[in-house]
Amino acid sequence: MTRSASEGDSRLDRMIARLTAQRACLELAAALIADMPGPVAELGLGKARTYDHLVRLFPDRAVYAFDRGIHCPPEAVPPAERLVLGEFEATLPGALELLRAAPVLVHVDMGTADRAGDAGPARRVGALLANLIAPGGVALADRDLGLAGWQAVPLPEGVGRWPYFIWRRSAAD
Ligand SMILES: C[S@@+](CC[C@H](N)C(=O)[O-])C[C@H]1O[C@@H](n2cnc3c(N)ncnc32)[C@H](O)[C@@H]1O
Repeated sequence: MTRSASEGDSRLDRMIARLTAQRACLELAAALIADMPGPVAELGLGKARTYDHLVRLFPDRAVYAFDRGIHCPPEAVPPAERLVLGEFEATLPGALELLRAAPVLVHVDMGTADRAGDAGPARRVGALLANLIAPGGVALADRDLGLAGWQAVPLPEGVGRWPYFIWRRSAAD
C-alpha cells in the first residue's frame, strides 16, 4: 500500500507528492467532463501552476481563475475577463452571472500549511459550489469540501501519497 506523505518527509518529497497528485487528478477530471460543454474554474490561482495546466488541458474552453490577490509571475496572469479577484465567499455567489454558464469542472486549491485551519473555509467553499457546478460536473480538491450526496470518484492509479478528493454531481440534480 502507498504510504501518505507526512511530516517525516522532506519538503521536496511533499511537494512532489502534491504536484504528482494534482496533475493526475486534473487529467482524470478532464476526461470525466470531456463530453460536457461549459467553462472551467480554478479556485486558488496562486503561482498559476494548476491554472496553466487547466488552460492547456482545455484549449477550447473558458478557464476562469479566482483568488484574493495575484501571486504569480506577470506572464502567467489570466486575461482580465477570466480573472476574479476577491474572497471566494464574496465572489462565488455572483459567479454564474460572470461565467455566463454553470462550470462543469472546478479545481479548489486553497490549502495552507494549516490543514486543520483549512477545514472550515474548505467546507464553506464546498457549500457555495454545491449549486454552482453543473449537474454531472466535477469538483476536485486536496481538502474535504463536504459535498454530501455527490459521487466520490476513485483516484487515478498511483495517486495516494497526497490526499485528494474528486466528486461528481449527479446528472439528475
Ligand atoms: C495553494 S495556493 C494555490 C496554488 C495554485 N493553484 C498553483 O498551482 O500555483 C492557494 C491560493 O488560494 C488563495 N486563497 C485561499 N483562500 C482564499 C479565499 N478564501 N478567497 C480567495 N483566495 C483564497 C490564496 O491567496 C492562494 O493564492
